[in-house]
Amino acid sequence: MAVTAAIAVAAGLAAGWYLRAEFPALLFSSPSIAGKKKKNKKKKSTSSAVSQDPDPISVTSTGVGDGGGPGVYETKKAIDEYVQFHFGDPQEVLPWRDGPREALRFTERCADLCAEHCKLVASGKWEITAAEDEKGAPRSPHLHRSGKSGLALDVGCAVGGASFELTKHFRDVVGVDFSQSFVTTANLMKRVGSLQYTSVTEGTMVESRQTSALDPGIDRQRVEFFVADACALPKSMMLGGSAPADSELFGKYGRHDAVLAANLLCRLPDPEHFLMACARLVRPDGVLVLVSPYSWLEQWTPKHKWLGGGGGHKSSDVIKALLESTAGGFDFVTQNDLPFLIKEHDRKFQWGVSHATVWRRRNPAVHTGEP
Ligand SMILES: C[S@@+](CC[C@H](N)C(=O)[O-])C[C@H]1O[C@@H](n2cnc3c(N)ncnc32)[C@H](O)[C@@H]1O
Repeated sequence: MAVTAAIAVAAGLAAGWYLRAEFPALLFSSPSIAGKKKKNKKKKSTSSAVSQDPDPISVTSTGVGDGGGPGVYETKKAIDEYVQFHFGDPQEVLPWRDGPREALRFTERCADLCAEHCKLVASGKWEITAAEDEKGAPRSPHLHRSGKSGLALDVGCAVGGASFELTKHFRDVVGVDFSQSFVTTANLMKRVGSLQYTSVTEGTMVESRQTSALDPGIDRQRVEFFVADACALPKSMMLGGSAPADSELFGKYGRHDAVLAANLLCRLPDPEHFLMACARLVRPDGVLVLVSPYSWLEQWTPKHKWLGGGGGHKSSDVIKALLESTAGGFDFVTQNDLPFLIKEHDRKFQWGVSHATVWRRRNPAVHTGEP
């Protein structure tokens, strides 16, 4: 972890340069100025063939097979890709008629999944039949009508897209990520409500773009972002945690109605450690939503820590065995496939299909012997 932290800090300095260089108007503009910018839904500047990026690691893609490791998420390229992925206008992300449109709005679909199942758990109807699952569970317009309550946690939130979406359904939302640059960008989005980013056309040719206005159902003020390591979350975030020195930051958070970990597991150095801590993050009868393409790579996770895919066992089976163990503390609810699309340049994309699994935290008051 010390090595990864050192990479993150070094890359964070580079990213600090990036935020100053790329977002000066946003860093020093007032929210009211940004409000005017929001009305300019699609503001494009002319293409530029000049790459002024002095940092060699910032050309590393977030895509698999291009290096990898935690430092990738501190880079200019990663910030641009994720701002576009989480907040970009769908038409700009995918201008191709024949492209996989169902892979758009990934963060919204992740947040909806958390809300749907919290609602079903609360109503006592948490087992979805296969037929209902096929048809698709109720979506956000239905959920919007209900009053907001509860606390949701988005672990590995990146630039915050799913965290903002969660505010449509939950009263309080916390997003945490290991990348200082991502958390800084998420906080900038929270403060300003819109971001400029660079979209790669081809090679070093880029366009400067502005994100669309956020959905009016999103309340940016009800989300907080912090840097934290999913494999070493502060004790005060955990169920039964005492009030250690870091409680000032995390003290009011302890029992989460919903915890989302989207495309996180196979980017962790010790995913089992994170999974086994989830019982102390989610309140009894609360919901854990894991979304992962199980894209295991040694750059992020040493092979002996992979939860599957290393021979013999599939990740979904390993995760089920861990979470349904006594110490794991969860019951399986349902599963789904969640496609996603990250644009690398105008003619190249990362298309993936994550496996979404929903888990209900066993209630120790009902199930004796649970943690
Ligand atoms: C593939 S991205 C997914 C981001 C976002 N959840 C999404 O679905 O778009 C993985 C994220 O996990 C974060 N991450 C990696 N290791 C982490 C750790 N140990 N603790 C917290 N976040 C971590 C990265 O910084 C990155 O934001």
